[in-house]
Amino acid sequence: MKVNYNMKSKQKKEDSVVIPEIKITKRKRIIFLGSEATPFIATGGLADVLGSLPKELAKNKSLDISVILPLYSSICTEHRVNFKFLTSFNVSLSWRYQYVGVFFYKYEGVNFYFIDNEYYFKREGSIYGQYDDGERFAFFSKASLDTISRLDIYPDILHCNDWQTASAIIYLKGMYYEDEKFRRIKTIFTIHNIEYQGKFGMHTYDDLFGFIPNIKNYIEYNGCINIMKGAIEMTDLVSTVSPTYAEEIKYEYYAHGLEKIINRNSQKLCGILNGIDFDYYNPESDKCLFKNYSFSDLNGKAVCKKELQKMLSLPVREDVPIIAIISRLVSHKGLDLITQVLESLLSQDVQVIVLGKGETSYENYFTHISHIYQGKCMAIIAYNQDLSRKIYSGADMFLMPSKSEPCGLAQMIASRYGTIPIVRETGGLNDSIKAYTGNSGNGFTFKNYNAHDMLYVLNQAIKTFYDKKAWTDVQKRAMTTDFSWKNQAEKYLELYSKCF
Ligand code: GLC
Repeated sequence: MKVNYNMKSKQKKEDSVVIPEIKITKRKRIIFLGSEATPFIATGGLADVLGSLPKELAKNKSLDISVILPLYSSICTEHRVNFKFLTSFNVSLSWRYQYVGVFFYKYEGVNFYFIDNEYYFKREGSIYGQYDDGERFAFFSKASLDTISRLDIYPDILHCNDWQTASAIIYLKGMYYEDEKFRRIKTIFTIHNIEYQGKFGMHTYDDLFGFIPNIKNYIEYNGCINIMKGAIEMTDLVSTVSPTYAEEIKYEYYAHGLEKIINRNSQKLCGILNGIDFDYYNPESDKCLFKNYSFSDLNGKAVCKKELQKMLSLPVREDVPIIAIISRLVSHKGLDLITQVLESLLSQDVQVIVLGKGETSYENYFTHISHIYQGKCMAIIAYNQDLSRKIYSGADMFLMPSKSEPCGLAQMIASRYGTIPIVRETGGLNDSIKAYTGNSGNGFTFKNYNAHDMLYVLNQAIKTFYDKKAWTDVQKRAMTTDFSWKNQAEKYLELYSKCF
């Protein structure tokens, strides 16, 4: 097998690309593979990225942008009724021979293809965490490649995301390379979170994935199959979702065992900070808000705060700072720092709102605290888009002290709504939030993973809150920080142009 890392040598004259204007002379096709994308199916930040980056890229008329997704039964009918059946065929996965249906939907300039197989994707419960996730996503990855050849939509770049679609790179580079059209495709693998690698027992190598023997060295790691590791080794380029995280994952503390592999492939690695969908998260037009507002007129934000307090049975007071936490309730979000000092924080004149779901111990903890501190703390154990935006707009501060954070989108959304982020300097939090210094900065930050360092900056923020002029200035800086996809999509384009 041959993995070609020397992409420049293959670049043809008529395909020439100029940076920084990034002038592309021939229309290029890019296909994203992913396991979730808004507005069709979402469990986390990956869905936001796959729902908004392709849309931004599709504005560039020299690009043809597609996304391939599984056709989960939980995709809501509102969109589903628009899907058009294109074709069906069978795909082989080891000894299995499975049905593939392909549906199509053009949405916001992007070609969406949906892979149908009811055995794999018509399930109750979450889209992840099924007993056969390895098989389901291997099927999806292979079916996506076969869809590309069936429909003759060979891309210039196949952009895979996280372990669920990493095996598409392994199949493509390791088993489809005899087909000239597949061989020409360059691959990019984006790591949204290195914690989830797709590890399986060696017995699944042939029996489940149907991998051939001579690529075993790429895929095997510590006596297991490691799909993410295989993709990192075999892909043309690797990216991750912030420059700081791209550095952090070279170290054991952040890499969940893959630091050696990351270091060995560091010449292929770069970090590009995610953006957020500025049309969707817009305080001037967001329909979930009690009242719309903008950075030049924050009066509506005061109404949002008042209505939020009413709705959550908190005393309606403008002069008390509301600190919000909207997060999956899992430990890498830094929740043990919060549990250590929350009661001490609540002994002050503050209101705390928690929205999220996750590990039972954290759910129980926050429920318990909100019973003890009624009128000061309110925990809502749920995932609720509408309520989250009422909180983003009605709160004053947004606490996100993650232990690790590949990018993080919540701090950007909070900023957009003029709610000041208080974050630990890690991953994308470090790249997006700059510490308040008096006349600069769009948030409050601390470095060490230490509860009292966090409490210290929280108190700095509370003090600043009472200085009306200083606080309005930070709010304006936060609201005008450009977290849109516009500039970030240009960076992806620069990355793609290394492959054209
Ligand atoms: C993962 C990461 C998060 C990132 C998101 C989108 O969920 O944990 O930090 O923002 O992917 O890339």
